Amino acid sequence: GLCHAGCMRLGVLTSGGDCPGLNAVIRAVVRRAERAFGAEVIGFADAWRGVLEGDYETLTVERCRGLLPRGGTILGTSRIQPYQFDDGVQRVRKTMFRLGLDGIIVIGGNGSLGAARDLCVDGVPCIGVPKTIDNDVAGTDETFGFDTAVGVATDAIDRLHTTAEAHERAMVVEVMGRDVGHIALHAGLAGGAATILIPEVPFHIDDVVAVIERRRKLGRYASIVVVAEGSMPAEGTLDMPSYETDEFGHRRLGGIGGVVAQELERRSGMECRLTTLGYVVRGGTPSSRDRVLATRFGVAAVDLAAEGRWGSMVGLAGTSVVPVPLDEVAGRIKTCDLDLYHEVAEVFFS
Ligand code: F6P
Repeated sequence: GLCHAGCMRLGVLTSGGDCPGLNAVIRAVVRRAERAFGAEVIGFADAWRGVLEGDYETLTVERCRGLLPRGGTILGTSRIQPYQFDDGVQRVRKTMFRLGLDGIIVIGGNGSLGAARDLCVDGVPCIGVPKTIDNDVAGTDETFGFDTAVGVATDAIDRLHTTAEAHERAMVVEVMGRDVGHIALHAGLAGGAATILIPEVPFHIDDVVAVIERRRKLGRYASIVVVAEGSMPAEGTLDMPSYETDEFGHRRLGGIGGVVAQELERRSGMECRLTTLGYVVRGGTPSSRDRVLATRFGVAAVDLAAEGRWGSMVGLAGTSVVPVPLDEVAGRIKTCDLDLYHEVAEVFFS
């Protein structure tokens, strides 16, 4: 290739839950690195596992052909972090040294970006690229993947409206959103939900029942209730499903929609059905908007690496892509715009 001694060498990895647009970022990283800087890009398999175990491939523009519309990640992903192992950081440094890498572009969510910040402190240069359908990364107005997830969920809600009307039923739709309700709020707004439950605002099942009963009095039997998986009933009002915790300390959510559907049916006497969208909103091709954002992030991440601005993340501020210190991102969560919830969405909770 174009690369010669002294020229930049970058690692790239995708970490945590997958999301539409990961491949678009990888493609943009490789294109920018190769064409603008004659740099070589090494792609690590399954996030930090590939770095720890030296499992990687050299990525070229040729290898990235056809990637733009493809969901998932060609590199694979995992939740493994170097800090889970006593010699983790040492092993990361060893791989970097062996491959002659200047730094690593970490495409990840809150957990992975926090680890990237810590690694920078420990002498492993990283640039962060925020990724998650949940849109809960601080320091960026939006993450790629979010728009696709909202689009798929909205499409599902549109479809549920017609079957709900045909049967005069209430439909509960559970969507992902572990700590935040961005997807539920946006898809609920876009899909004309009768009410929306989000983790940021503990809910009262009586309020949900009241909405359904009010609608029924008006002859509007069909209702859509959108529930983010991380939603919680107000203290002492309902029993929660029991959530298991995986090996990474991640609670395996899912089930609150079922609790809501069951209680709604029991209390209102109205027929109620549950649809859990789950991983459907995370799979498949990214929306055009997410492809553009992912591409802009990938190009900007390489430019930051070329400027030696390690310890930064690329973020969207308004319409601009800007560098954000990982220090300002790590350990934080971007919650929903509560004005949008209370001042706009609630107008339609009836
Ligand atoms: O973090 C994104 C997310 O979609 C969460 O909303 C969800 O709880 C989680 O991923 C589940 O992912 P996995 O089962 O892959 O851990």
